[in-house]
Amino acid sequence: MNTVYLNNKFLPADQACVPVLDRGFIFGDGVYEVIPVYGRKLFRLDEHLQRLQNSLTAVRIPNPLSNADWDTILNELIRQNDGDEQSLYLQVTRGSAQRDHAMPDDPVPTIFAMSNPLHPVSQQIREHGVAAITLDDIRWQRCHIKAISLLPNILLRQEALDQNAAEAILVRDGFATEGAASNLFIVSNDVLVTPPTGPFLLPGITRDLILELAETNDIAHHEKNISRDELRTADEIWLTSSTKEILPVTRLDDAPVANGQPGPLFQRMLTLYQCYKQQLRHQ
Ligand code: PDD
Repeated sequence: MNTVYLNNKFLPADQACVPVLDRGFIFGDGVYEVIPVYGRKLFRLDEHLQRLQNSLTAVRIPNPLSNADWDTILNELIRQNDGDEQSLYLQVTRGSAQRDHAMPDDPVPTIFAMSNPLHPVSQQIREHGVAAITLDDIRWQRCHIKAISLLPNILLRQEALDQNAAEAILVRDGFATEGAASNLFIVSNDVLVTPPTGPFLLPGITRDLILELAETNDIAHHEKNISRDELRTADEIWLTSSTKEILPVTRLDDAPVANGQPGPLFQRMLTLYQCYKQQLRHQ
């Protein structure tokens, strides 16, 4: 049985209970983070905690813990669970209150964290890539907040799965923003392109690392909006996230992306990414 953390206690997952009036349960009123762990080391913890703080500030939930406390709790959670490679999930909700849209005056946030196994992306996917479809971005105008209310993302991802694709690439006003649970990159004429951050996409921690690796390795890169046509004619398409790292998209809306194989810049970036992880494991 996995050990989870709930409001100051470490306990087996099946003993962790949240009151039915918790606003996370009633309204989806909360925010979350997913942090990969390599060799029992938290990946980019400061960046994840900064994004958590930004999400909390945006939804007006006080951060219940200092960064030092988060660090201690998450490391203890890693210690109490099996596996050198883990995927930590943490969420903070506005806590329990009588059901009312208005925010309670003195919220006592609920703090929950758990560890899941971090499954490596299969060799088959690394070699052949995945299919994606484009869908209209039906989400709200604050996609930079990592909110637990994910119904639109769930519907979009499921629609992709129903069409035998791994992910939906979302299009808003003619521009591709990101995936249902991932960020988007394309390679066009040897330049790596990703949409700029703003209210229509989540500022991914993986996205930032890829931009950093591009910068330090002299890979031409650019943050700019990607039109539907640019997406369709891209030489490479990648999706990035903490759990999937970098996924090459080799089919888009049932047509091959370029020659239908993962491209050379993907191979290069994947190697750089794996080296970065390896350094973290041995720190
Ligand atoms: N999702 N965009 C969206 C909408 C996401 O949900 C995610 C990640 C990302 C990538 O962010 P990062 O690189 O920080 O993981 C972009 C997580 C993994 C999830 O919801 O499970």
